[in-house]
Order: sequence, then C-alpha cells, then structure tokens
Amino acid sequence: MKVGIVGLGYVGLTTGLVIASKGHEVIGIDIDDKKVKMLNAGRIPFYEPGLEELLRKALDSKLFIATTNYDAIRDAEIIFISVGTPSRDDGSIDLSFIESSSTMIGKALKGSSDYHLIVVKSTVTPGTTRNIVGRIIAKVSGKKLGDELGLCMNPEFLREGSALYDTLNPDKVIIGELDEKSGEKLYEFWYEFYRDDTEYLRTTLENAELIKYAINSFLATKISYINMLANICEKIPNCDIGVIARGMGLDKRINPAFFGAGLGFGGSCFPKDLRALIAFSKQSINYDPLILEATLKINEKQALHAIEIMKRELNDLHGREITILGLSYKPNTDDIREAVSIRIINELLRLGAKIRVYDPKAMKNIKRIYGDSLIYHNSAYDALDKSEAVIIVTEWNEFRKLKPKDFLRMKKPVVIDGRRILLDKLEEFRRLGIKYYTIGHYFEL
Ligand SMILES: NC(=O)c1ccc[n+]([C@@H]2O[C@H](COP(=O)([O-])OP(=O)(O)OC[C@H]3O[C@@H](n4cnc5c(N)ncnc54)[C@H](O)[C@@H]3O)[C@@H](O)[C@H]2O)c1
Repeated sequence: MKVGIVGLGYVGLTTGLVIASKGHEVIGIDIDDKKVKMLNAGRIPFYEPGLEELLRKALDSKLFIATTNYDAIRDAEIIFISVGTPSRDDGSIDLSFIESSSTMIGKALKGSSDYHLIVVKSTVTPGTTRNIVGRIIAKVSGKKLGDELGLCMNPEFLREGSALYDTLNPDKVIIGELDEKSGEKLYEFWYEFYRDDTEYLRTTLENAELIKYAINSFLATKISYINMLANICEKIPNCDIGVIARGMGLDKRINPAFFGAGLGFGGSCFPKDLRALIAFSKQSINYDPLILEATLKINEKQALHAIEIMKRELNDLHGREITILGLSYKPNTDDIREAVSIRIINELLRLGAKIRVYDPKAMKNIKRIYGDSLIYHNSAYDALDKSEAVIIVTEWNEFRKLKPKDFLRMKKPVVIDGRRILLDKLEEFRRLGIKYYTIGHYFEL
C-alpha cells in the first residue's frame, strides 16, 4: 500500500518509518527543505534512539522517500497528517499548519478518481478534524467526504526518547471516524501491525480528539498533584514524598505511574496541550476548567522551587557560579522545547548568577538560545569543578551514577537534586558534609 505522511517531525517520521518497516511504500512530505535533504541522506535532524538505523533501512529498501512536493501523495491510499500544532500567544491552538497542509493535500488530490483516507495524527481540539481538515480537503480537491474521501482522527501517544518502542508497542489505538468505511479501513491497517496485542477503540472524531487532551492533561495533573504534596512533605518532619507516592500506588484504585515528584513537566506536549484545552474550554464552550488551571500554575512555580531552596543556602545569587546538570526536557532526547532548564536558566540569569551547564545531548540546542551567556562543559565533572551549587534538572542515567564524593570538587557543595535520583545516598552526602536537598523530602535549614 502507498501511504503519505505529511509533517516529518517526531511523530510523522517515527510513524512513517515504522509503516515502511512493514513493507508499505511511504512518501513523507515536509515543507522544510533542509530536513527533507537530510532525511534522504540518511540523517535524522533530532536525537531519537533507533530511528536513524530504521531510516537507513527504509531508504535502502526504497520504501521511504522524503519530499517537499505534495503531488507525490496523489496516489496514496492513506494520508496521515502529523504537522505541528503549537500554542498561540493566548495559549489557544495554532491551526495554521493544519490548515496549510490540508489545502496542499486538497490540491494534490484534485482530479484523482481514487478513494483516499485522510488521518489526522496531530493533536487538535475537538471539531478540528471534521470542520477544518475535512472541509478544506473536500472543498479544495472537489471530492465528496464519504464515498470519495475518508476521514479519521487517530491521536498519537508516543513518548520522545522511546518513540520507536512506543510506536511498535502501543497500549491502545484510538480511531475517531467520520463513517464506518473510514474507520474500518484504518482499523484494518493498524490491525495488520498490532493484531490482538493492543486495545482498539473506535468512536467519533471529536471523542478521539478529546481523548488525547484528556490523557495528557490528566497525566500533567498527576504530576502537579504529587508536586503539591511534595511541597507539603518538605515542611513535615520525617516525611518523604517517595514513600507517600509508593503508599498511594498500593491502593488498587490509583495507578502509581507519573507520580515522580520533581521540578515539574516541560516538553512539546503537556504545557501546550494543557493551554490549548484551557483556551478551548473558555473561548469555545464558555467553561472554566479550574483543575487544569491549577495544574498549570503549580507547574510554573515548581521549576523555580529549586532556586528558592538554593537562595536559602547562598542568599544572594549575584556573581555566584551555579551548575545546571541536564537541559533536555527529559532524558534520552535532545528536545528542549519548554524544558524546565530554560525557566531555571532565565531566572538565574535575571539574578546575575554565572551559569555552567552540561547535558549529554542537548548542548547544541541550548547554545542556539543562549550563545555566550552560559559556560558550556563537556562532562558533569567539569561543570561541577569549583562551582558553588548544582541543580540536577534532568534525570539522565549518567547523573544517577554520580557519587557523593564527585561533588567534593565543588567550592562549597550545595546539591539540589531536582529529580530525587541521588536520595538513596543521603547518608553519604551528610557524612561528607555536603548540603544535599531534594524535592519532597523534609529538610531543616
Ligand atoms: N512530539 C511528541 O512527543 C508528540 C507526541 C504525541 C503527539 N504529538 C503531536 O503530534 C503533532 C506533531 O508533533 P511533532 O513533535 O512531531 O512536531 P514537530 O514540530 O517535530 O514536526 C512537525 C513537522 O511538520 C512540518 N510541517 C509544518 N507545516 C507543514 C506543512 N504545511 N506541510 C508539511 N509539513 C509541515 C514541520 O516542518 C515539521 O517538520 C503535534 O500536534 C503534537 O502535539 C507529539
């Protein structure tokens, strides 16, 4: 089968390469000419484990090609849309890439007598697939929705850092369908991949759109909830949020996933999707989603909690040498979109601190934003050398391996473990006279 993928970012590229790996011919479309050239040369523009190898295999077997020319998808049976859906300044969803790609798909399909199924994979607010994507493509192509043109909404749940694994092993496939014919075609397509190893839910387009937001905002709420409890724990002698979360997880009604207290969430999805759902609720259906607003507020404060702790030790941060370990929004990716590190760096710069940074993968991306304002290091050890305080922001495995004595190279070590990855070494930190603080663990100052 010939499959088109429009938008070759994390979602589109991973989806396209997995589809190609099963023997289908995949045409990838992107407006970014540089990206297209890079992909055709066998290189991935971002870091994602396993993806480059899959790209090379797909190129060798001639089952994948990237292009900027939409005409190449004219004879594709299924066309996935996976373009970005960023936030506007007021937090609402920016649908301009969805609109422009729909127009281009419509133009490419004009005059085709075949049936094409359009599948929206991008995260979009309820009503977008039917009222924007469906309408634009039908109008521009001149094809009728239903008999000549199918329409589905198939939200994506992959996580950056394990995008390939997640795409090969989804726990659910949600299919929002305009009609039975569209839904059946997409169901059969995915069933060929996953058989009975996953759960399928077929529903309306709008339910599928909202399920994606519901899951992301619920997970974000779990994180803010546990961070709120963590902040309470810090004030109660003998309390630790890790034990509280474990206890909560023992209750069969509560799933313990996403209960890791820390400096909050960032990334390309949770913050923007929360903002989009809040704006949609307020602007389109006149409803105040109070829980979601609290989730976002708690998260905004949580990143700076690390600096509050540090200030209690160092008072004025002006001119102080502070190390940040971990810049990507989570481990195993170089993605820094809305990363917690950025909020911390901005505040430290405002306070006049000298900032030294290290990350295993995200240095290039951070350098692009901050240029000469930061001091860049090639290892955690170098970044710690003679520094006065450190904040561990991202829980990369190599930071988990740090030993308390490694921090002795600092001037007068103050360690703020924003991800609780070294808490099991607390006694040794104390024995070495190192000030160690972490989120959600009672501390006396
Ligand atoms: N990244 C994730 O972890 C993730 C997970 C689940 C869902 N999503 C959702 O999937 C969608 C895509 O996310 P992403 O992270 O892959 O985005 P991305 O920004 O990495 O990639 C989007 C791509 O679309 C291209 N594009 C923009 N306009 C285009 C057009 N008119 N025609 C062709 N290409 C165009 C861009 O050049 C870019 O390469 C978003 O709606 C996002 O919310 C993302």
